[in-house]
Amino acid sequence: MANIYQPISAEILEVIEETPNIRTFVLKPEQEVPFLAGQFVELTIPGHGEAPFTPSSSHFERETLEMTIMKVGRATSALFKLGPGDFVGIRGPYGQRYPLEKFEGRDIYIVGGGVGLAPLRALFLALTHEIHKYKRIYLRYGARTPADIVYKRLIPKWEKMDKVDVELSVDAADEKWMKKVGVVTCLMDEIPCDEKTSIAVVCGPPIMMKFVTRRLLEAGFDGRNVYLSMEMNMSCGLGQCGHCKLGPYFTCKDGPVLTWDQIKDIPDPFV
Ligand SMILES: Cc1cc2nc3c(=O)[nH]c(=O)nc-3n(C[C@H](O)[C@H](O)[C@H](O)COP(=O)(O)OP(=O)(O)OC[C@H]3O[C@@H](n4cnc5c(N)ncnc54)[C@H](O)[C@@H]3O)c2cc1C
Ligand code: FES
Repeated sequence: MANIYQPISAEILEVIEETPNIRTFVLKPEQEVPFLAGQFVELTIPGHGEAPFTPSSSHFERETLEMTIMKVGRATSALFKLGPGDFVGIRGPYGQRYPLEKFEGRDIYIVGGGVGLAPLRALFLALTHEIHKYKRIYLRYGARTPADIVYKRLIPKWEKMDKVDVELSVDAADEKWMKKVGVVTCLMDEIPCDEKTSIAVVCGPPIMMKFVTRRLLEAGFDGRNVYLSMEMNMSCGLGQCGHCKLGPYFTCKDGPVLTWDQIKDIPDPFV
């Protein structure tokens, strides 16, 4: 019987420095990883264990896979020592995809914080690849400082895209920053899409998710249309170890993206 924990090998082709502690790793897996936006994989760093990450590249790109990763601890520190020509392992994809068929014909309001823009980039690229299917894409993104903004090299291109509306904020500006200053909810005073029918998608630190969700609900969004990346502590990724339990859900199998409607009765879902 095949070992479900056995990763496939992937070569690191390129490492792109996004911020002082966030890098994008461009990987070439030995065989296709058929992920769809919203799903995640377990990345093995040989000799240092594995950790879950959501690909940040488009699911329409099958040859390579990108992951945008923040250095926080043991596995990610080991990964940051690797470069082009080194190999990592991948198993997955796991979890549920975004139900893009439900997004068609609607405004999509995406809110990201910090490295949370990484999983959202996979969704953003999937949406813009078939932009004719959607009404308009709103991207709201907040980082701590201008230096902490991921994808600085790509955002100017996104800002010029047809049917795409991008706004950025930073908690603390420098002398060159000409955009909004404040936590990401400062971009949500006015929400320019129809709250009754629009889809909202949120990913970021738990505290940001909590306040963004509160603002979306106040604005009139339907909890069934608010999609939240619940990146709980995961281990097996297969619904077997129970590490990722959130109320009645295994976030590795039922998530990681769950709607507000699904989690609204769970005490402190954003802890
Ligand atoms: C579905 C999913 C998708 C993810 N996608 C991304 C991504 O695209 N980019 C990215 O940078 N990170 C992502 N993460 C978080 C990533 O898995 C953790 O940062 C990583 O496991 C840390 O490993 P480590 O060994 O370096 O840190 P550790 O040494 O294990 O821990 C260092 C610190 O990070 C915290 N931590 C560890 N694991 C997690 C976790 N799973 N969630 C939250 N905090 C954790 C610990 O509490 C500790 O404070 C994702 C997590 C999940 C569950
Ligand atoms: S990570 Fe093991 S059950 Fe979800």
